[in-house]
Amino acid sequence: MTRLGDWLYERLPISAEQLRELTNEPVPNHLKRWWFALGGTPAYLFAIQIVTGILLAVYYQPSPATAYESVRYITQEAAFGWYVRSVHKWGATMMIAAVVLHQMRVFFTGAYRKPREVNWFVGMTLLLTTLVTGFTGYSLVYEQLSFWGATVAANISDGVPVVGGFAKEMLLGGETYNPRTLSRFFVLHAAVLPATIVGLIALHIAIVRVQGVTELHFRDEERGKPDHFKFFPEHLYTELIIGLTLMVLLSALATILPAALGPKADPLTTPEIIKPEWYFYVAFRWLKLFSATTAILSMGFVVFVMFTWPFVDAWIRRNTRYQDASVWIGIAGALSIIALTVWEAAVAH
Ligand code: HEM
Repeated sequence: MTRLGDWLYERLPISAEQLRELTNEPVPNHLKRWWFALGGTPAYLFAIQIVTGILLAVYYQPSPATAYESVRYITQEAAFGWYVRSVHKWGATMMIAAVVLHQMRVFFTGAYRKPREVNWFVGMTLLLTTLVTGFTGYSLVYEQLSFWGATVAANISDGVPVVGGFAKEMLLGGETYNPRTLSRFFVLHAAVLPATIVGLIALHIAIVRVQGVTELHFRDEERGKPDHFKFFPEHLYTELIIGLTLMVLLSALATILPAALGPKADPLTTPEIIKPEWYFYVAFRWLKLFSATTAILSMGFVVFVMFTWPFVDAWIRRNTRYQDASVWIGIAGALSIIALTVWEAAVAH
């Protein structure tokens, strides 16, 4: 060991060997297929969101009088501002898509079953936190759609029984959208929610580390070969390739389809068409199909079932002969979400 190494070891008695032991988790063979290693993808994208988000925050000014102008400055004048903003916008879309794909992989392989129920719960909280982060970010731009989107969302939360009115006031900082509202969105979007996501990802991955990932086997596997491979360097290479591919894709999207800027918010003129970001299309369409209370209560019920799914699934498997019910319920759920999203995307109102 070098002198610096000795000096450090005397103060922090953790050896390189122990560190290797702690981090070099044996990885089951199926993680060589990238779609089983999708969990790393939202983590990468989140890191990109933090870096680009910090750069945007250098210029962004969260008040109705300044927000729109500061986003215009970032988009049109600041050096590479358009690129940073576009990467951040596409990064949000890709992060949400990545979380959903990872969740689908976990769902359809039954990887949430005992003893991983708690990590499914942590994952669901991550999904909701990521969605709310997307919503608060969209609201910061202070263009017509972000202003009216936030107003509609606040009115929806008002419809939630018991706590809705309070939640709306907490979100807006008053009865209606006012000069202090944007700084609330900013604090949530740039501090509270990202800090929550960091904590949740750390917990999520610590639990994965303690439990190991679910062992899956395939018919075409060669028998007699080792079941596992090393995290370093083999799995790290898979992750690096996924990460690099993502960065190229993100950069290409940001350059070919850069983030635009719509008309500035006008609290007195409701736009003819109000649309949230694509990941809320499903909820938006649902709200248009039913009365507010029915829609909100039924969506709350669906989210509750999603949270408790490992227990619902265990009950079905214990008490009925439909051992694969989760697959069919999952396919029906995914198709319904896609259908509602496409429907909302295809029509103006
Ligand atoms: C920011 C979001 C998320 C990140 C960064 C993340 C990260 C990861 C990583 C790195 C793994 C290891 C295996 C793999 O790569 O698939 C994993 C496993 C897992 N994740 Fe996530 N995850 C996220 C969201 C979710 C969500 C939304 C759910 C479900 C509601 C979920 C449930 C699980 C479960 C149950 C496992 C264990 C899977 C197994 O044992 O095979 N995660 N996650």
